[in-house]
Amino acid sequence: MACSMSILLKNLATDLTLIDVIEDKLKGEVLDLNHGNLFLSNVHIDGGKDYSLSSGSKIVVITAGARQQVGESRLSLVQRNVNIFKHIVPKIAEHSPDAIIIVVSNPVDLMTYVAWKLSGFPRHRVLGSGTNLDSARFRHIIASRLSVSPSSIHACIVGEHGDSSVPLWSSVSVSGRSLTSIEPKIGQPDGPKGWDTVHKQVVDGAYDVIRLKGYTNWAIGLSCAEMVESILKNKHRIMPVSCFVKGMVGIKDDVCLSLPCVLNASGVNNIVQVNLNKSEKAALNKSATLIAKVQEDLKW
Ligand code: 2OP
Repeated sequence: MACSMSILLKNLATDLTLIDVIEDKLKGEVLDLNHGNLFLSNVHIDGGKDYSLSSGSKIVVITAGARQQVGESRLSLVQRNVNIFKHIVPKIAEHSPDAIIIVVSNPVDLMTYVAWKLSGFPRHRVLGSGTNLDSARFRHIIASRLSVSPSSIHACIVGEHGDSSVPLWSSVSVSGRSLTSIEPKIGQPDGPKGWDTVHKQVVDGAYDVIRLKGYTNWAIGLSCAEMVESILKNKHRIMPVSCFVKGMVGIKDDVCLSLPCVLNASGVNNIVQVNLNKSEKAALNKSATLIAKVQEDLKW
């Protein structure tokens, strides 16, 4: 619902269809949104259990699946959500064969891979929300420390969305000035005080929100709407999102994870060749291997 609301408030859709198995709750949400249509731009909003209602969609956002309980890791959800995806992805592919699929369900990198395989779509049309959100958290924390807006910080987190994510300190910059040119060890355990815990705060961020309110929704909804916007408006924005990355920056595993990507009307138009230092490259490969290991044990 947070994805839907963010998409509606950004005026991105003429038609929005919600599909869910809990029919009464869904009817209630559709009715409630429609009551607000006066304040939107007369979007056609409907929903139901039947995937044919969403036929011919340009973009399909998948948020379905089990979600983390307090203290639970994203990876522990994987088999349950693969079982759910086995039912929904073939129906999406049948009814919207030309769609671009954006996976939000966790663990998002594994679920993006599973959705890609189950859909049979070309790789540029299946992507995951990935570390676009981790990067937003990263930029928010750095921005607060420097008292500037997050949009004035260039900073990116790559790899797995979550625990093994990799902050690219070597390319953090403000106003064109790289932070490592001022503090070469920024973000490192032996670097300037206070900055060494920033990445941990990013990783803990979701766990904190889940502990406090039970789930995360607003930030991921906004992050998802930015992706939808870049695709529908062919904006060519660069965002760290999850997609199939084998062969990029030395990654040998058959996995999806996040690297900065150019998003346009075709989906992932290009994966940016990022400049990583030695330790960032090692951490990224470790993240890829960890995802590949979990993937190996999946039954589907
Ligand atoms: C998040 O990071 C839980 O993956 C979700 O907000």
